[in-house]
Amino acid sequence: MSDVETVPTHDWNGDSGTRWAANLARLDVMLEDFGNAAIAAADARPGEQVLDIGCGSGTSTFPLAEQVGAGGHILGVDISEQLVEIARAAAPVGMQIEFRCADAATAPLPAGKFDLLFSRFGVMFFDEPVAAFTHMRRALKPGGRLAFVCWRGAQENDWVRLPMAAIRDIVQPVPADPNAAGPFAFGDRQKVADILSAAGFTAIDITPFDTSISYGRGATREEAIDDALDMAFQVGPLSRALADQSDDIRTKSAAAVRAAFAKRPGETSVQIDGAAWIVTARN
Ligand SMILES: C[S@@+](CC[C@H](N)C(=O)[O-])C[C@H]1O[C@@H](n2cnc3c(N)ncnc32)[C@H](O)[C@@H]1O
Repeated sequence: MSDVETVPTHDWNGDSGTRWAANLARLDVMLEDFGNAAIAAADARPGEQVLDIGCGSGTSTFPLAEQVGAGGHILGVDISEQLVEIARAAAPVGMQIEFRCADAATAPLPAGKFDLLFSRFGVMFFDEPVAAFTHMRRALKPGGRLAFVCWRGAQENDWVRLPMAAIRDIVQPVPADPNAAGPFAFGDRQKVADILSAAGFTAIDITPFDTSISYGRGATREEAIDDALDMAFQVGPLSRALADQSDDIRTKSAAAVRAAFAKRPGETSVQIDGAAWIVTARN
C-alpha cells in the first residue's frame, strides 16, 4: 500500500469552499501582502480585459477592476458556487465585473480575448496543470500577460511548518504527494517553469516573495494566539491532518500548536513567515 496521500486534498465546491467562506476575513488579512505583490506585478492598465482564475470571493478581482476602469472588463472564474455567490454579492455596482462558476481548466473561454490572466493562489489545484494552462493561454491575446502568486514549499512556510512540526509526536499525518494538486503543488520553481513552458508561455519569471503574515488577531496577545489556533484547526494542512482524529489527539495537538504559536512575535497578532512565488509570463 502506498504511504502517499492520493485522494484529492481539496473539494472546492464542497467542504473546502465552505471552510474558506467561513474564514474569509482572516484569510484576506493573511493573504493581503501576497495579493498586492501579484497585483503590482500584473500591472493592469485602463481598458484591459482580465481573467481572474480561482477568484474565490473576489478579493483580488475588485482592485483589478478599479485599475482597468470603465473601459476595461474583468471576468472572475471559480469552481466554488458558494464563493462565486459571495463575490457577486460583494461586487460594487457599476464596475465592469462578471463572475462565473466554472472549472477554469476546461470552461469555454473566448479565444485571444484577454490582456491579462491573473490569480491569487488559485492555480495550484489543477489535476493536469499543463493542459489547464494551455487552455487558459489560448484565451490570451498574442503578447498577453500571465501573473499569479502561489505558495513555495510547505517547509519554507512557517505557518504550515511550525504547527505540523508541533504535532509530529502526537499524530503521524499521511505524507502528501508533492506532485499532487494542492496548495504547495507549485513549490518547486523548475516545475512551475516547466509547466508554463510546456503550456506555451514565454518570458517566464519566477521571483520569491517573503513576508511576515498576521496569522491570528485579537485585542490581546492571548486572544491572538487563540485566534491563530482556531484558524489552523479550520483551514489548511493542520485542519486536514486532524480532521478524522480523536478528541484526545485533537486536544493534545491544540496544546502543542498553541505553544508553537506562542513562541512567535506579535502583540495583537501572531506573526509567522510566509513564502510565495510571484510568477509572470507572456503568451
Ligand atoms: C486558495 S483559494 C484562493 C481564492 C482567492 N483567489 C483568494 O485569494 O482569496 C483557491 C481558489 O481556487 C478555486 N479553484 C480551485 N480549482 C479551480 C478550478 N479548476 N477552476 C476554477 N477555480 C478553481 C477554489 O474554488 C478557490 O476559490
